[in-house]
Amino acid sequence: MSTADLSRDDAVLILDTAEEIARLSARPIKKLPTLRGRTVVNLFFEDSTRTRTSFEVAAKRLSADVINFSAKGSSVSKGESLKDTALTLEAMGADAVVVRHSASGAAYRLANAGWTSSHVVNAGDGTHEHPTQALLDAFTLRRHLGGFDGRRITVVGDVLHSRVARSNVHLLATLGARVTLVAPPTLLPVGIGNWPCEVSYDLDAVVPDSDAIMMLRVQRERMNGGFFPTQREYSRRYGLDAQRMARLPDKAIVMHPGPMVRGMEISAEVADSDRSVIVEQVANGVSVRMAVLYLLLSGSESAIGPDVAENL
Ligand code: CP
Repeated sequence: MSTADLSRDDAVLILDTAEEIARLSARPIKKLPTLRGRTVVNLFFEDSTRTRTSFEVAAKRLSADVINFSAKGSSVSKGESLKDTALTLEAMGADAVVVRHSASGAAYRLANAGWTSSHVVNAGDGTHEHPTQALLDAFTLRRHLGGFDGRRITVVGDVLHSRVARSNVHLLATLGARVTLVAPPTLLPVGIGNWPCEVSYDLDAVVPDSDAIMMLRVQRERMNGGFFPTQREYSRRYGLDAQRMARLPDKAIVMHPGPMVRGMEISAEVADSDRSVIVEQVANGVSVRMAVLYLLLSGSESAIGPDVAENL
């Protein structure tokens, strides 16, 4: 439900499993029979491009059956609750439910209220957490930086509304990285002092010390008309353009969880540059979500070693 609950060993197990899956999936035979006969339900009450399709591809590559449920076009629009939706899907027999919901805590409630006996995977709950996004970000970072100890990761933008920021701060701190959040004071949550990270309001001061920089979208849809600077003012102080990117250390990478707004938090030139690993993040998401589903549904407690790989 939360990366704050993930131990270092468990996080490394997921990353190692994803690495092995990525290696196996690169073979000519991309589909693995591991979850044949199992059913994964994608239960999405909020829009998604990357996460929903990524879980669908991941489950199908493991040979699971996939049911895609979107609140739009379902009986949720007639007033049906999360509970009744969950009970309905439970009656159809799901082994795992991947849930995205606008309410923080929705995944936890679904897993603990007795409405379903399935495994529940949090695909983003309100402004709380997005654990598999943080795992795929960590996977991408480890591939590029070689490890986490002492690495400096800068996360920039609308931290207040970002479940990605919270999940990344907890996971990266657990893995040994140093995280700095950069945002206008109005876009930082109350209680940020208790998060395992540093905070800055000055992006130009932090950029030269960053091994990776992760840009976040400004989530106007969650702002309820609250105060916000103009786009021009925001981009000038907190956006990443080519000029700012040039001040990053030589091997530093540029990340974004998507969806991105080109010209706002990131310029098109930066998004399409050699330093950008944004498309790679999406590809890595499939391996990471395959690892999560594999570890949950196969009952395995270890990464896929050569002995297991032979039986896949
Ligand atoms: N990163 C992410 O969660 O993207 P989607 O909203 O498209 O799933």
